[in-house]
Amino acid sequence: MILNASGCLDALTAPEAARALDAYVTKTVTPEPRRGNPPPRMAETEAGMLNSIGLPNPGRERFLAEVLPRLLELGPPVWVSVGGFAAHEYAETCARLEGSGAAAVELNLSCPNVEGAADAAADIVAACRAATTLPLYAKLAPGGNVAELAAAVQAAGADGLSLVNTAPGLALDAALRPVLGTATGGYSGPAVKPLALAAVYTAYRATGLPIVGMGGVMTGRDALELMACGASAVALGTVLLADLDAPGRIRAELAAELAALGLSGPEEAVGLAHAGGVGPAPGGLPARPGHPPRQPLLGSRRC
Ligand SMILES: Cc1cc2nc3c(=O)[nH]c(=O)nc-3n(C[C@H](O)[C@H](O)[C@H](O)COP(=O)(O)O)c2cc1C
Repeated sequence: MILNASGCLDALTAPEAARALDAYVTKTVTPEPRRGNPPPRMAETEAGMLNSIGLPNPGRERFLAEVLPRLLELGPPVWVSVGGFAAHEYAETCARLEGSGAAAVELNLSCPNVEGAADAAADIVAACRAATTLPLYAKLAPGGNVAELAAAVQAAGADGLSLVNTAPGLALDAALRPVLGTATGGYSGPAVKPLALAAVYTAYRATGLPIVGMGGVMTGRDALELMACGASAVALGTVLLADLDAPGRIRAELAAELAALGLSGPEEAVGLAHAGGVGPAPGGLPARPGHPPRQPLLGSRRC
């Protein structure tokens, strides 16, 4: 199952890209309208990008009245990403989504670009659980104690996990000034893939919950690796900012990767990294066609 990562695809301006997904995840919706952070709000870096968008959105009531009905007309199931600054704010939006046509709720518990998200993740999930029967996915940040946090949101009633959000990052310009208007922002793209793999691997072991894996997925191989760590679905983020054809391309690449391994479907790949992987033991693996071995960064200077 391939989704977009919240905030990385405007389905109303790129409906064909949205229709190529198995489900569309909205930009995070907050109770009140938000204009977002001061510019500049995006910066490219060596191995990824920084954003400090800051959750601009029309607010819950306009979203429900004007945006959601148009998204539902596109076809794919719509997951609504819910944000807020206190547990009751998240819960009120969840209650309003009941019967709205939304297929699931993703709770954005981890945006690095907004201050004031004070209530603990488990308290927010518990409040939302009491407010809705919709499936609840808790979206967490990379790093920190993912196992403990994942187990806590599971105990509070989460049906699944979305892993990971961006990591805190900063870029300087030639004059050594922060590029982003907010100085620090959220780091995404290829550089965060190892963080995402670690979070998915750890949370899968800790909870066994369904996981939407995301973070640096650029190719079918990246998607496969997240699935091997335990993701049952994969979301595309930064790649969609550069390539609106990514859903179809990555779906085809993933199918080819699965076929090359003799797997009959994506579900067979889920958790493979926990079960010894595929093929002969380490050391005996042939180089994969199309993936020339990379020069190790540390060469022989490994410690
Ligand atoms: C421009 C931009 C906007 C984003 N907006 C949101 C958002 O509104 N809500 C959210 O939960 N995550 C948001 N994210 C985080 C992504 O959904 C995703 O978790 C993160 O970028 C990691 O995936 P990637 O490396 O494939 O981009 C945003 C990311 C980017 C780059």
